[in-house]
Amino acid sequence: MTKRGNVASRRASRGLAPLALWLALSALACSDRKEDDRKETEPEAGAGELNLRQVAAAAGKLLGTAVDADALRADPTYAEVLAREFDTITPENATKWGPLAPTEDSYAWEDADAIVEFAEEHSQAIKGHAFVWHRQAPSWLSSSMSADELRAALKSHIETTLARYKGRVRAWDVVNEAVDVTTESGYTASVFLDVLGPSYIEEAFRLARAADPDVLLFYNEVGIERMGAKSDFTYELMKELLDRGVPIDGIGLQSHVSTHRYPALSDLRANIRRFADLGLIVNISELDARTLLMPGDGDSRRRAQRIAFQQVVSACVSEPGCEGVTLWGFTDRYTWINDEGGEPDEPLIFDRDYRRKPAYRGVLDGLSGALPALGDNLVSNGDFAAGTEAWAAAGELSIRAAMDRSGAAACVSDQEAGLVQEGLLPALAQGGPFSFAAFVRVEAAGEATIDAELVVEDDTGETRTLSVATLTAQGQEWREIAGYVGLGFEPMPSGIALRIFGSSADAELCIADVRLQPLAP
Ligand code: XIL
Repeated sequence: MTKRGNVASRRASRGLAPLALWLALSALACSDRKEDDRKETEPEAGAGELNLRQVAAAAGKLLGTAVDADALRADPTYAEVLAREFDTITPENATKWGPLAPTEDSYAWEDADAIVEFAEEHSQAIKGHAFVWHRQAPSWLSSSMSADELRAALKSHIETTLARYKGRVRAWDVVNEAVDVTTESGYTASVFLDVLGPSYIEEAFRLARAADPDVLLFYNEVGIERMGAKSDFTYELMKELLDRGVPIDGIGLQSHVSTHRYPALSDLRANIRRFADLGLIVNISELDARTLLMPGDGDSRRRAQRIAFQQVVSACVSEPGCEGVTLWGFTDRYTWINDEGGEPDEPLIFDRDYRRKPAYRGVLDGLSGALPALGDNLVSNGDFAAGTEAWAAAGELSIRAAMDRSGAAACVSDQEAGLVQEGLLPALAQGGPFSFAAFVRVEAAGEATIDAELVVEDDTGETRTLSVATLTAQGQEWREIAGYVGLGFEPMPSGIALRIFGSSADAELCIADVRLQPLAP
């Protein structure tokens, strides 16, 4: 059976500090928040109700999760939920080079073996992760090694690992996060880049293919879910490597999203499609969704989070080139998002006590291809059909026919002040999750960051801002900016305005089709 046959047959924003303060205040004012947080969990699946694994199989997509070896050993509920809900596993740390090879001539297979054995017992596929990454690489690798020494180490590691798991691991992330468009070269600083230059990417794939002709080989990358400088660079890199016959079978879009920093559905789908059109299998490889930039109670955060999961999963389900979605963990009890300290977030689909969150329902809905139902647009004159009515801008504001789009666009000369609509409080007072989206275009070459935020005023006249969506725009194309926000006010503010603005002071910003819509429960 061919490799592809196998696949088929498997059938931060400005205003953060004041916002944190506001959150703390609202938590104090709302002493029953813990109770609130408890309410919004899904009822346990009843007898006969389908789990995610079954629904994914029916949709013809893989559904996976990252797995932590310690949790798997120590926590029987973790193992039980893992076996029941997922058909694919990515070891969260156990198959990274550093953890696998603590010294130059020893291997620590215990954790990786435990995960592989568990997966085999439960008929789950495995994606090994990752041969080459600038983080969690062995401490004994160094930039003072010669090219030959590093090459030999890489060869030995790839061969040893592939040989151990031959026929048992379906796919490997061969190279992880090699692109960093903030550097001069466009490549992430690493010992590999230092010693071998960017050709280490190609070399790693060729070594892996030579060592195992059957396993699927993936490139995995962070922050390339939507179109933009980084995903363009990665796309060109993949294209160039494939053109030269480098054996890459697939690409993983990590998708560590936040409900306010989120790829618009159209954008994510178009991006998946262009990678698939290169002949790559596309995989959503590390999905989780942070919520902490949202104010309000646990319920509304969790309902907004549900939509994030639903949309990413449904983007994959709607695109034939996307083989499946892997979540970066499944219970808020164990999530890397909380490793760095700070206020704990809850980015996953089961809560700390393994109760299904609304996000679980989001994955289920996404697997059935359902998109969230949206209510009426709460923004007045969002399509600018009535000219500038309901909008204000510092500097010049002009309404014109949107170039390359139907309808009108509002163009502001002072991009940093942006475009503002006040008076949204009555429409938003009910709270609940909202979907925000607009099309934006920057009339300049180069890159600009576009942000949408809600400016919330309390009765002392103090204002706080809440990021709703953000996007890096490049070139003069229309791009959709989107995000989800959960609102719940305690105490009730005295005014809310929407502001859309950009970072490039000397270029005009055009905006079209602005929508802020409540999500149907
Ligand atoms: C993370 C793990 O989840 C953490 O436990 C570990 O401390 C650091 O790495 N992108 C990746 C993953 O490709 O390997 C990372 O996993 C998360 C970001």
